[in-house]
Amino acid sequence: MGETKKREQWGSKLGFILAASGSAIGLGNIWKFPYITGQNGGSAFIIIYLIAIAIVGFPVMLSEFLIGRKTQKDAVNSFKALSPEKPWFFTGYMGVAAAFMILSFYGVVAGWTMTYTWEAVSGNLLSLDASQFPDHFGALIGDPVKPILWQVAFMVLTVAIVLGGVKKGIERWSKILMPLLLILLLIVMFRSITLEGASAGIDFLLKPDFSALTPTSFLVALGHAFFSLSLGMGTMITYGSYLSKDEKLPSAAISVSVADTVIALIAGFAIFPAVFALGMEAGAGPGLLFMTLPGVFQQLPLGTFFATIFFGLVVIAALTSAISILEVPVAFFTEKYNWTRTKATIILGFVITLVGMAASLSMGPWGGFTIAGKNIFDQLDWVSANILLPLGGLFILLFVGFGMKLKEAFEAADFSLDSKFGKTWMFTLRFVAPGFVLLVFLNALGVTGALTAAIIWSITLVFLYLLGVIGD
Ligand code: TRP
Repeated sequence: MGETKKREQWGSKLGFILAASGSAIGLGNIWKFPYITGQNGGSAFIIIYLIAIAIVGFPVMLSEFLIGRKTQKDAVNSFKALSPEKPWFFTGYMGVAAAFMILSFYGVVAGWTMTYTWEAVSGNLLSLDASQFPDHFGALIGDPVKPILWQVAFMVLTVAIVLGGVKKGIERWSKILMPLLLILLLIVMFRSITLEGASAGIDFLLKPDFSALTPTSFLVALGHAFFSLSLGMGTMITYGSYLSKDEKLPSAAISVSVADTVIALIAGFAIFPAVFALGMEAGAGPGLLFMTLPGVFQQLPLGTFFATIFFGLVVIAALTSAISILEVPVAFFTEKYNWTRTKATIILGFVITLVGMAASLSMGPWGGFTIAGKNIFDQLDWVSANILLPLGGLFILLFVGFGMKLKEAFEAADFSLDSKFGKTWMFTLRFVAPGFVLLVFLNALGVTGALTAAIIWSITLVFLYLLGVIGD
C-alpha cells in the first residue's frame, strides 16, 4: 500500500558517495585489513594493497557504476538490458547468490561485534583476566544461543533500514552513520598514536620491510581489494542504478576508493600503535580484533570508554555494508517478480538470517557437520569470497572491456573518447586487471602455475588486441 512502482534515486551526490562508501567500509576495513596487514609484515603489504586498489579495484568499481547508471536496473536486468542476446546476465545471478551467502555469515560476525560492544559497556569484557580473552571469544562463537540472538538483532537493524528505501533508508542512515564512524575512529586513533611506545607501531605501518612479503601476500592484497571495495557482486551496479545522469562517475569512483582506503589506514593507525605500545602480538590473525584488542583496552585509562566506542564503530561499519548486500537481492526481486520492497526485504532478510543461524551453529553444536571438509560458516565465506566474487569481477571487467562497444563504455563512464584517463582505464580493464583477477581465482582453487596461466592470459589478450581480433 502506498508503495509506488517508480524507481527510486539518491537524493544527492553526497548521499550516494556516503552510501557507496558505507558499503565499502565494513568489517573488511576494520577487522580484516589490520589482521592481514599484521600477518604480512605491515607497510610493504600496504604498498601492494594500494597498487591493487588502483589497478584492479578502481577500474572495476567504475565499470559497476556505469553498468548500473546506464541501465537503471538491478544486477541481473542491467546485463540483460545492455546485452539481450548473450548470457552476461548470468553474472548478476551469481551476484544475487553471493549476496545470500556473504550476508548470512557477515551478520554472524557483526553479531559478535555487537556482543562485544554490549559486554564493553556493561563492564563484563574488561573485567576478565587478560589471559582469558581467547577462551572468552571461543566460548562466544561456540555458544548455541548467544551469538544467534545478536545476529538476529543485527539482521533486524539491517532489514529495518532497507525497508525505508533508497533515499529514506539507506541514504539517510549512511549520512548519519558514516560521519559518526569517522569521528569515533579518529578518537581511537588519536588515543593509540599518543601512547608511550606507539612509535614502534607507526614504524610498522610506515617503514616498508619487503622481506616480510611472500607470493601469497600479493594474492591476499588483491582479493582483499575486491572484498573491501564491495566489488564483483553487483552491489555497486545496484547503487549506481539509483544515480541520475548528471553525476560524474570517474570522480565518484575515486572518492569511494579513496575513502575506503583511508579508513582502512586509519583503522591500522588506531590498532597497531596500541598493540605495539602494550606489547601485544601484531600477527595474531583473525582473532586480533576479538582476542588481542580487549587486552589493549584493558591497559588504557578510560579503557571501557574506548572499548565501547571502538566495538560500537565496528557495528556501524558492518551495518552500512550489510544494507548494501541486502539491497542487491531486494532490487532484483522487486524488479523481476514485482514484489513490493516490504515483501522482498522481509522475506529475503528472513531467509538470509536462517542461513546465518546455520553458519553460527556450525561453529558450535553443529561443528561435526561439514561440506567438502569445511563447516557451513567457512564454506559460505570460502565459496563466495574465493569463487563467486573474483569470477563476478572478471565477468564485469570483460563485459565492459570487450562486451560493450568502446564508444558506449566511454560515454557511459562520462569519458570523452580522447580522454587520456579514459584510455588508461580501458587499457587496464582489458589487459591488466583480468590477468590479476584470474590469478586470485586460480590460486584460490589451488591451481598450481596460476601465475603462468595469468601471464599467458594477459599476453594472449594483448596479441588478440594488436591483431585486431578484439576491441575496436
Ligand atoms: N566491503 C564490505 C567490507 O569491507 C563488505 C561488502 C559489502 C561486500 N558489500 C559487498 C563484499 C559486496 C563483497 C561484495 O566489509
